[in-house]
Amino acid sequence: MMLYLDNSATSIRKPAVVYRSLFYNTLFNSANAGRGSHKPSLRALDGVLNAQEAAARLFNADNPMNIAFTHNATYALNMAILGAYDGGHIVATQMDHNSVLRPISRLGNFTIVPADRLGRVYPADVEAAIQPDTKLVICTHASNVCGTIQPVKEIAKIAHRHGALFLLDAAQTAGCVGIDAKDIDADLIAFSGHKGLMGPLGTGGLYVKNPAKLKPVITGGTGSQSESLKHPAVMPDMLHPGTVNTPGIAALGAAIGFIIEHGAEAIGEKEREMANNLHDELMNMKNVTVYGDYFRTGAVAFNINGLGSEETAERIGGRAVVRAGYHCAPLAHKAIGTNKTGAVRASFGFFNEPRDVKRFADIIYKASRG
Ligand code: ALA
Repeated sequence: MMLYLDNSATSIRKPAVVYRSLFYNTLFNSANAGRGSHKPSLRALDGVLNAQEAAARLFNADNPMNIAFTHNATYALNMAILGAYDGGHIVATQMDHNSVLRPISRLGNFTIVPADRLGRVYPADVEAAIQPDTKLVICTHASNVCGTIQPVKEIAKIAHRHGALFLLDAAQTAGCVGIDAKDIDADLIAFSGHKGLMGPLGTGGLYVKNPAKLKPVITGGTGSQSESLKHPAVMPDMLHPGTVNTPGIAALGAAIGFIIEHGAEAIGEKEREMANNLHDELMNMKNVTVYGDYFRTGAVAFNINGLGSEETAERIGGRAVVRAGYHCAPLAHKAIGTNKTGAVRASFGFFNEPRDVKRFADIIYKASRG
């Protein structure tokens, strides 16, 4: 059986309830939510409402209406960054993904907080990066390269102390790290549906604590206030222009229900243990370098010394599925010291088993000996 270790990109296997929901809702409820009073449209709307309720429970958010669904985390991050931006300075970190770095580069006025060799961002460095006109602080909850989890609650506190909003990029943590919107006190949480949440591709979302602080980035038909040329400012319509992916969102709701049943923290603990065991196995190989911290998601980044990451991936061949290169996070690679080589990333997910660690370690041991 294929040894799939690319869960940080996409969880390829989904719980059965997700396939069932996708099939059922595609067959019977492929209609526009909130655009008509016919039964398929009402059932499609139900699927969206159920998914909002599930996501609100997962993230401990008070109002399910403050959760909107997007095509992926990149769309959610763009809607959050461009929608919250009203001039001023932005703070982001070296561990952030291009889905944060590229939008803020377009806006122009930003500071990048450095991370250490293990990919850790320090709250004191975030504080030092704040300027009098800082309006938005952004941090990935965990690196997509090496999995290192960041102290986001402390970072949110710093943002608020200086009057800025805090945007949490939970692309890598939704479904495998407990996320409590109230405890972290995040103003905005962007998440992907197809990774840790194990929903379908083409799903993600954005939680917005205070919709009055956001403007819509894409405007159009919402099925509400249709007599007005002004795009509605209410959630979720503000972020749901055009036809939404109703079967995908319903299936994402089913996936989130599955995560709640199993517990995001318990899932994350199992993935972390596999990742840390692999980290140790690889550390014991004399010509392998491993990156990242033990406080991580299921992702482990490493290189075989003297080989480019793509060459290592070639040596692994079809025996395991991993991702090599720069993972759309060039500054994170600079932080961990792999900006010349990239790195190979193996990432564990819900359906991996502890025996996969040894299986993969054996593959790397052989690859490291040529
Ligand atoms: N951002 C995804 C990854 O890290 C696609 O692989």
